[in-house]
Amino acid sequence: MLNAIEISPKVWWVGGIDWNERLFHGYTTEAGITYNAYLIMDEKITLIDTCKATFSNELVQRISQVVDPAKIDVVITNHVEMDHSGSLPVIHKIAPNAQIYASAGAGVNEVKAHFGIEATPVKSGDTLNIGERTLTFVTTPMVHWPDNMVTYSDVDQILFSNDAFGQHYATTKRFDDENDLCEIMKQAKKYYANIVWPYGMQAHKALEAVKGLELKMIAPSHGCIWRSHIDKILEKYEAWTTYQTEEKAVVVFDSMWHSTEMMAREICDSFIAEGISAKLIDVKASHISDIMTDLCDARYVAVGSPTLNSNMLPTVASFLTYMRGLSPKNDQRIGLAFGSYGWAPLGPKQVYEELEKAKFNLPVPVITQQWIPSEENLAELQATVKKIIEDARA
Ligand code: FEO
Repeated sequence: MLNAIEISPKVWWVGGIDWNERLFHGYTTEAGITYNAYLIMDEKITLIDTCKATFSNELVQRISQVVDPAKIDVVITNHVEMDHSGSLPVIHKIAPNAQIYASAGAGVNEVKAHFGIEATPVKSGDTLNIGERTLTFVTTPMVHWPDNMVTYSDVDQILFSNDAFGQHYATTKRFDDENDLCEIMKQAKKYYANIVWPYGMQAHKALEAVKGLELKMIAPSHGCIWRSHIDKILEKYEAWTTYQTEEKAVVVFDSMWHSTEMMAREICDSFIAEGISAKLIDVKASHISDIMTDLCDARYVAVGSPTLNSNMLPTVASFLTYMRGLSPKNDQRIGLAFGSYGWAPLGPKQVYEELEKAKFNLPVPVITQQWIPSEENLAELQATVKKIIEDARA
Protein backbone atom coordinates (compact mmCIF):
# COMPACT_ATOMS: atom_id res chain seq x y z
CA MET A 1 0.00 0.00 0.00
CA LEU A 2 1.41 3.36 -1.02
CA ASN A 3 0.07 5.81 1.52
CA ALA A 4 -0.41 9.52 1.20
CA ILE A 5 0.71 11.36 4.34
CA GLU A 6 -1.23 14.35 5.69
CA ILE A 7 1.46 16.84 6.66
CA SER A 8 -0.98 19.62 7.67
CA PRO A 9 -4.80 19.71 7.63
CA LYS A 10 -5.89 19.02 4.03
CA VAL A 11 -2.29 19.07 2.74
CA TRP A 12 -0.91 15.69 1.71
CA TRP A 13 2.48 14.40 0.69
CA VAL A 14 1.95 12.25 -2.41
CA GLY A 15 5.50 11.85 -3.71
CA GLY A 16 7.77 9.00 -4.70
CA ILE A 17 10.63 7.32 -2.87
CA ASP A 18 13.59 6.27 -5.00
CA TRP A 19 15.36 4.00 -2.52
CA ASN A 20 18.05 2.76 -4.87
CA GLU A 21 19.04 5.75 -6.98
CA ARG A 22 22.77 6.19 -6.42
CA LEU A 23 23.76 8.84 -8.95
CA PHE A 24 22.28 12.20 -9.92
CA HIS A 25 24.28 13.92 -12.68
CA GLY A 26 27.61 12.80 -11.29
CA TYR A 27 26.57 13.31 -7.67
CA THR A 28 26.47 10.15 -5.56
CA THR A 29 23.17 9.76 -3.73
CA GLU A 30 24.16 7.07 -1.25
CA ALA A 31 20.97 7.62 0.78
CA GLY A 32 18.59 7.54 -2.22
CA ILE A 33 16.23 10.31 -3.36
CA THR A 34 12.63 11.36 -2.85
CA TYR A 35 10.53 13.29 -5.35
CA ASN A 36 8.10 15.15 -3.13
CA ALA A 37 4.75 16.23 -4.53
CA TYR A 38 1.99 17.79 -2.44
CA LEU A 39 -1.80 17.72 -2.78
CA ILE A 40 -3.93 20.48 -1.28
CA MET A 41 -7.60 19.56 -0.80
CA ASP A 42 -9.21 22.98 -1.12
CA GLU A 43 -12.14 24.11 -3.29
CA LYS A 44 -9.73 23.83 -6.18
CA ILE A 45 -7.84 20.60 -5.68
CA THR A 46 -4.22 21.55 -6.21
CA LEU A 47 -1.16 19.43 -6.92
CA ILE A 48 2.21 21.04 -6.29
CA ASP A 49 4.90 19.42 -8.47
CA THR A 50 4.89 15.82 -9.68
CA CYS A 51 7.59 13.11 -9.72
CA LYS A 52 10.18 11.63 -12.03
CA ALA A 53 8.35 9.86 -14.88
CA THR A 54 9.21 6.39 -13.60
CA PHE A 55 7.39 7.24 -10.36
CA SER A 56 4.10 8.32 -11.96
CA ASN A 57 2.32 5.16 -10.79
CA GLU A 58 3.47 5.81 -7.24
CA LEU A 59 2.26 9.42 -7.48
CA VAL A 60 -1.13 8.48 -8.89
CA GLN A 61 -1.63 5.72 -6.31
CA ARG A 62 -0.88 8.07 -3.44
CA ILE A 63 -3.17 10.79 -4.82
CA SER A 64 -5.88 8.15 -5.23
CA GLN A 65 -5.70 7.47 -1.47
CA VAL A 66 -7.07 10.99 -0.99
CA VAL A 67 -9.09 11.86 -4.10
CA ASP A 68 -9.80 10.73 -7.64
CA PRO A 69 -6.82 12.24 -9.58
CA ALA A 70 -9.24 13.21 -12.38
CA LYS A 71 -10.64 15.83 -9.97
CA ILE A 72 -7.40 17.80 -9.77
CA ASP A 73 -8.13 21.44 -10.75
CA VAL A 74 -4.72 23.03 -10.52
CA VAL A 75 -1.13 21.84 -11.02
CA ILE A 76 1.70 24.10 -9.90
CA THR A 77 4.98 23.33 -11.65
CA ASN A 78 7.59 25.01 -9.48
CA HIS A 79 10.40 23.58 -11.60
CA VAL A 80 10.38 21.78 -14.94
CA GLU A 81 13.47 19.62 -14.42
CA MET A 82 12.27 16.09 -15.03
CA ASP A 83 12.66 14.83 -11.47
CA HIS A 84 9.71 17.13 -10.65
CA SER A 85 7.80 17.39 -13.91
CA GLY A 86 8.36 13.97 -15.49
CA SER A 87 4.90 12.78 -14.42
CA LEU A 88 3.16 15.96 -15.61
CA PRO A 89 1.99 14.34 -18.90
CA VAL A 90 0.39 11.49 -16.91
CA ILE A 91 -1.46 13.94 -14.64
CA HIS A 92 -2.43 16.04 -17.68
CA LYS A 93 -3.89 12.96 -19.34
CA ILE A 94 -5.87 11.96 -16.23
CA ALA A 95 -7.03 15.52 -15.47
CA PRO A 96 -6.94 17.30 -18.86
CA ASN A 97 -8.86 20.32 -17.60
CA ALA A 98 -6.52 21.03 -14.72
CA GLN A 99 -4.88 24.41 -15.14
CA ILE A 100 -1.11 24.19 -15.05
CA TYR A 101 0.93 27.11 -13.70
CA ALA A 102 4.65 27.71 -14.22
CA SER A 103 6.97 30.70 -14.06
CA ALA A 104 6.56 33.26 -16.84
CA GLY A 105 9.12 32.84 -19.59
CA ALA A 106 11.40 29.94 -18.67
CA GLY A 107 8.77 27.83 -16.87
CA VAL A 108 6.00 27.93 -19.47
CA ASN A 109 8.54 27.62 -22.28
CA GLU A 110 10.08 24.51 -20.74
CA VAL A 111 6.70 22.88 -20.08
CA LYS A 112 5.87 23.44 -23.75
CA ALA A 113 9.29 22.29 -24.98
CA HIS A 114 9.42 19.15 -22.85
CA PHE A 115 5.81 17.99 -23.03
CA GLY A 116 3.98 20.09 -25.62
CA ILE A 117 1.65 21.25 -22.84
CA GLU A 118 0.45 24.84 -22.38
CA ALA A 119 0.91 26.37 -18.94
CA THR A 120 -0.31 29.64 -17.46
CA PRO A 121 2.55 32.02 -16.63
CA VAL A 122 2.97 33.51 -13.15
CA LYS A 123 5.40 36.16 -11.99
CA SER A 124 6.98 36.81 -8.61
CA GLY A 125 4.34 38.09 -6.21
CA ASP A 126 1.39 36.77 -8.24
CA THR A 127 -1.28 35.03 -6.21
CA LEU A 128 -3.84 32.31 -6.89
CA ASN A 129 -6.92 31.79 -4.75
CA ILE A 130 -7.87 28.11 -4.52
CA GLY A 131 -10.70 28.50 -1.98
CA GLU A 132 -9.79 28.87 1.65
CA ARG A 133 -6.18 29.40 0.67
CA THR A 134 -4.28 31.91 -1.37
CA LEU A 135 -1.07 30.72 -2.95
CA THR A 136 1.74 33.21 -3.61
CA PHE A 137 4.49 32.56 -6.13
CA VAL A 138 8.07 33.77 -5.73
CA THR A 139 10.42 33.15 -8.63
CA THR A 140 13.88 31.85 -7.68
CA PRO A 141 15.73 31.74 -11.01
CA MET A 142 18.84 29.51 -11.10
CA VAL A 143 17.96 27.77 -7.86
CA HIS A 144 18.43 25.44 -9.76
CA TRP A 145 17.33 26.26 -13.35
CA PRO A 146 16.10 29.56 -14.83
CA ASP A 147 12.48 28.48 -14.35
CA ASN A 148 12.54 27.75 -10.61
CA MET A 149 9.97 29.25 -8.31
CA VAL A 150 8.57 28.53 -4.85
CA THR A 151 4.93 28.58 -3.73
CA TYR A 152 3.65 29.78 -0.36
CA SER A 153 0.34 28.74 1.14
CA ASP A 154 -0.96 31.38 3.57
CA VAL A 155 -3.41 29.27 5.59
CA ASP A 156 -0.90 26.48 6.13
CA GLN A 157 2.13 28.76 6.37
CA ILE A 158 3.99 26.25 4.25
CA LEU A 159 6.62 27.18 1.71
CA PHE A 160 6.79 24.63 -1.08
CA SER A 161 10.41 25.32 -1.91
CA ASN A 162 11.17 22.75 -4.63
CA ASP A 163 14.95 22.24 -4.96
CA ALA A 164 15.86 24.85 -2.32
CA PHE A 165 16.42 23.39 1.17
CA GLY A 166 16.30 19.86 -0.29
CA GLN A 167 18.35 16.81 0.61
CA HIS A 168 18.82 13.58 -1.29
CA TYR A 169 17.59 11.24 1.43
CA ALA A 170 15.08 8.44 0.96
CA THR A 171 12.91 7.91 4.01
CA THR A 172 9.32 7.09 4.95
CA LYS A 173 9.54 9.65 7.75
CA ARG A 174 8.55 12.95 6.23
CA PHE A 175 9.70 15.44 8.87
CA ASP A 176 13.09 16.68 10.02
CA ASP A 177 12.34 15.83 13.66
CA GLU A 178 11.53 12.22 12.78
CA ASN A 179 14.94 11.66 11.23
CA ASP A 180 18.56 11.89 12.36
CA LEU A 181 19.20 15.64 12.21
CA CYS A 182 22.97 15.20 11.70
CA GLU A 183 22.33 12.97 8.70
CA ILE A 184 19.80 15.29 7.04
CA MET A 185 21.96 18.36 7.66
CA LYS A 186 24.88 16.47 6.09
CA GLN A 187 22.73 15.58 3.10
CA ALA A 188 21.41 19.17 2.88
CA LYS A 189 25.01 20.42 2.75
CA LYS A 190 25.98 17.86 0.11
CA TYR A 191 22.89 18.86 -1.90
CA TYR A 192 23.74 22.56 -1.62
CA ALA A 193 27.41 22.01 -2.54
CA ASN A 194 26.60 19.90 -5.59
CA ILE A 195 23.40 21.52 -6.87
CA VAL A 196 22.92 25.07 -5.64
CA TRP A 197 26.41 26.37 -4.87
CA PRO A 198 27.15 28.00 -8.26
CA TYR A 199 24.02 30.10 -7.78
CA GLY A 200 24.64 31.31 -4.23
CA MET A 201 23.88 34.95 -5.04
CA GLN A 202 20.53 34.06 -6.58
CA ALA A 203 19.82 31.68 -3.71
CA HIS A 204 20.55 34.46 -1.26
CA LYS A 205 17.97 36.70 -2.92
CA ALA A 206 15.45 33.87 -2.63
CA LEU A 207 16.39 33.48 1.01
CA GLU A 208 15.73 37.15 1.64
CA ALA A 209 12.23 36.75 0.16
CA VAL A 210 11.59 33.74 2.38
CA LYS A 211 12.67 35.51 5.56
CA GLY A 212 9.60 37.77 5.54
CA LEU A 213 7.17 34.84 5.58
CA GLU A 214 5.43 33.27 8.56
CA LEU A 215 6.65 29.70 8.31
CA LYS A 216 5.36 26.58 9.96
CA MET A 217 7.02 24.35 7.40
CA ILE A 218 9.43 24.42 4.49
CA ALA A 219 8.42 21.56 2.23
CA PRO A 220 11.12 20.90 -0.39
CA SER A 221 10.74 18.55 -3.31
CA HIS A 222 13.59 16.33 -2.10
CA GLY A 223 14.03 14.76 1.31
CA CYS A 224 12.52 15.78 4.64
CA ILE A 225 10.13 18.61 5.43
CA TRP A 226 11.53 21.21 7.80
CA ARG A 227 9.21 22.02 10.71
CA SER A 228 11.22 21.77 13.96
CA HIS A 229 14.57 22.95 12.63
CA ILE A 230 13.60 25.70 10.18
CA ASP A 231 15.93 28.10 11.98
CA LYS A 232 18.87 25.71 11.55
CA ILE A 233 18.46 25.20 7.81
CA LEU A 234 17.88 28.94 7.25
CA GLU A 235 21.01 29.70 9.25
CA LYS A 236 23.01 27.26 7.14
CA TYR A 237 21.63 28.69 3.88
CA GLU A 238 22.54 32.17 5.09
CA ALA A 239 26.14 31.01 5.56
CA TRP A 240 26.33 28.98 2.35
CA THR A 241 24.69 31.58 0.09
CA THR A 242 27.06 34.27 1.32
CA TYR A 243 30.09 32.02 0.73
CA GLN A 244 31.13 32.06 4.36
CA THR A 245 34.09 29.81 5.01
CA GLU A 246 35.44 28.19 8.13
CA GLU A 247 39.06 28.13 9.26
CA LYS A 248 39.65 24.73 7.77
CA ALA A 249 41.73 23.27 4.98
CA VAL A 250 41.05 20.56 2.44
CA VAL A 251 44.07 18.93 0.80
CA VAL A 252 43.10 16.94 -2.30
CA PHE A 253 45.66 14.87 -4.18
CA ASP A 254 46.52 11.81 -6.19
CA SER A 255 49.97 10.28 -6.38
CA MET A 256 51.89 7.64 -8.32
CA TRP A 257 55.02 6.85 -6.28
CA HIS A 258 54.10 8.82 -3.13
CA SER A 259 56.08 12.02 -3.80
CA THR A 260 52.96 14.15 -4.26
CA GLU A 261 51.41 12.28 -1.35
CA MET A 262 54.39 13.25 0.85
CA MET A 263 53.83 16.88 -0.14
CA ALA A 264 50.09 16.57 0.57
CA ARG A 265 50.73 15.13 4.02
CA GLU A 266 53.22 17.87 4.82
CA ILE A 267 50.76 20.57 3.72
CA CYS A 268 47.98 18.99 5.75
CA ASP A 269 50.18 18.72 8.84
CA SER A 270 51.32 22.32 8.36
CA PHE A 271 47.74 23.58 8.54
CA ILE A 272 47.12 21.49 11.65
CA ALA A 273 50.32 22.83 13.23
CA GLU A 274 48.92 26.33 12.78
CA GLY A 275 45.68 25.42 14.54
CA ILE A 276 43.60 24.96 11.38
CA SER A 277 41.57 21.79 11.05
CA ALA A 278 42.53 19.98 7.88
CA LYS A 279 41.39 16.99 5.89
CA LEU A 280 43.60 14.92 3.60
CA ILE A 281 41.67 13.49 0.65
CA ASP A 282 43.09 11.04 -1.86
CA VAL A 283 40.82 11.45 -4.91
CA LYS A 284 40.99 7.69 -5.48
CA ALA A 285 39.34 7.10 -2.10
CA SER A 286 36.58 9.73 -2.15
CA HIS A 287 33.88 10.60 -4.65
CA ILE A 288 34.17 14.07 -6.17
CA SER A 289 30.71 15.02 -4.90
CA ASP A 290 31.78 14.20 -1.33
CA ILE A 291 34.95 16.23 -1.79
CA MET A 292 32.76 19.18 -2.84
CA THR A 293 30.81 18.87 0.41
CA ASP A 294 34.05 19.23 2.40
CA LEU A 295 35.33 21.95 0.14
CA CYS A 296 32.38 24.35 -0.02
CA ASP A 297 32.99 25.94 3.38
CA ALA A 298 36.77 25.49 3.59
CA ARG A 299 38.87 28.66 3.52
CA TYR A 300 41.95 26.84 2.24
CA VAL A 301 42.00 24.35 -0.63
CA ALA A 302 45.23 22.67 -1.73
CA VAL A 303 45.23 20.43 -4.80
CA GLY A 304 48.12 18.27 -5.92
CA SER A 305 48.99 16.06 -8.83
CA PRO A 306 52.17 14.54 -10.19
CA THR A 307 52.89 14.60 -13.92
CA LEU A 308 51.77 11.71 -16.07
CA ASN A 309 52.41 11.83 -19.82
CA SER A 310 52.78 15.63 -19.71
CA ASN A 311 49.46 16.02 -17.88
CA MET A 312 48.01 16.01 -14.41
CA LEU A 313 46.53 12.68 -13.39
CA PRO A 314 43.06 12.08 -14.92
CA THR A 315 41.59 11.57 -11.42
CA VAL A 316 42.67 15.08 -10.40
CA ALA A 317 41.54 16.52 -13.76
CA SER A 318 38.11 14.96 -13.24
CA PHE A 319 37.80 16.48 -9.78
CA LEU A 320 38.96 19.92 -10.98
CA THR A 321 36.57 19.89 -13.94
CA TYR A 322 33.67 19.09 -11.63
CA MET A 323 34.79 21.66 -9.06
CA ARG A 324 35.25 24.42 -11.63
CA GLY A 325 31.71 23.85 -12.91
CA LEU A 326 30.37 24.33 -9.41
CA SER A 327 32.65 27.09 -8.14
CA PRO A 328 30.98 30.46 -7.69
CA LYS A 329 32.41 33.30 -9.77
CA ASN A 330 33.29 35.43 -6.78
CA ASP A 331 35.22 32.68 -5.03
CA GLN A 332 37.64 34.21 -2.55
CA ARG A 333 39.00 31.02 -1.05
CA ILE A 334 42.72 30.55 -0.82
CA GLY A 335 44.12 27.94 -3.17
CA LEU A 336 47.44 26.15 -3.39
CA ALA A 337 48.62 23.99 -6.30
CA PHE A 338 51.40 21.49 -5.85
CA GLY A 339 52.85 18.27 -7.19
CA SER A 340 55.86 16.27 -8.19
CA TYR A 341 57.48 15.49 -11.53
CA GLY A 342 60.37 13.62 -13.08
CA TRP A 343 61.50 15.77 -16.00
CA ALA A 344 58.77 18.38 -16.66
CA PRO A 345 56.45 19.89 -14.00
CA LEU A 346 53.41 19.98 -16.28
CA GLY A 347 50.89 18.23 -14.03
CA PRO A 348 51.07 20.66 -11.09
CA LYS A 349 51.11 23.61 -13.49
CA GLN A 350 47.82 22.43 -14.96
CA VAL A 351 46.39 22.19 -11.45
CA TYR A 352 47.40 25.81 -10.85
CA GLU A 353 45.75 26.92 -14.11
CA GLU A 354 42.53 25.18 -13.15
CA LEU A 355 42.46 26.82 -9.72
CA GLU A 356 43.10 30.15 -11.42
CA LYS A 357 40.18 29.60 -13.80
CA ALA A 358 38.01 28.71 -10.80
CA LYS A 359 38.83 32.19 -9.39
CA PHE A 360 40.75 31.02 -6.36
CA ASN A 361 42.93 33.49 -4.54
CA LEU A 362 46.41 32.02 -5.21
CA PRO A 363 48.97 33.73 -2.96
CA VAL A 364 51.99 31.68 -4.12
CA PRO A 365 53.03 30.19 -7.49
CA VAL A 366 52.62 26.48 -8.09
CA ILE A 367 54.87 24.40 -5.83
CA THR A 368 56.68 21.71 -7.78
CA GLN A 369 59.03 18.99 -6.64
CA GLN A 370 61.37 17.01 -8.83
CA TRP A 371 61.52 13.31 -7.87
CA ILE A 372 61.25 12.68 -4.13
CA PRO A 373 61.01 15.53 -1.58
CA SER A 374 63.86 15.65 0.93
CA GLU A 375 63.45 16.67 4.56
CA GLU A 376 64.69 20.09 3.53
CA ASN A 377 62.12 20.33 0.73
CA LEU A 378 59.34 19.41 3.14
CA ALA A 379 60.54 21.99 5.66
CA GLU A 380 60.39 24.64 2.90
CA LEU A 381 56.88 23.51 2.06
CA GLN A 382 55.85 23.81 5.68
CA ALA A 383 57.30 27.35 5.82
CA THR A 384 55.35 28.31 2.70
CA VAL A 385 52.06 27.09 4.17
CA LYS A 386 52.81 28.91 7.41
CA LYS A 387 53.43 32.14 5.50
CA ILE A 388 50.18 31.73 3.53
CA ILE A 389 48.27 31.34 6.79
CA GLU A 390 50.01 34.29 8.44
CA ASP A 391 49.25 36.53 5.46
CA ALA A 392 45.63 35.37 5.38
CA ARG A 393 45.27 36.15 9.07
CA ALA A 394 46.93 39.58 8.82
FE1 FEO B 1 15.35 18.46 -8.22
FE2 FEO B 1 16.58 20.86 -10.36
O1 FEO B 1 15.67 19.31 -9.86
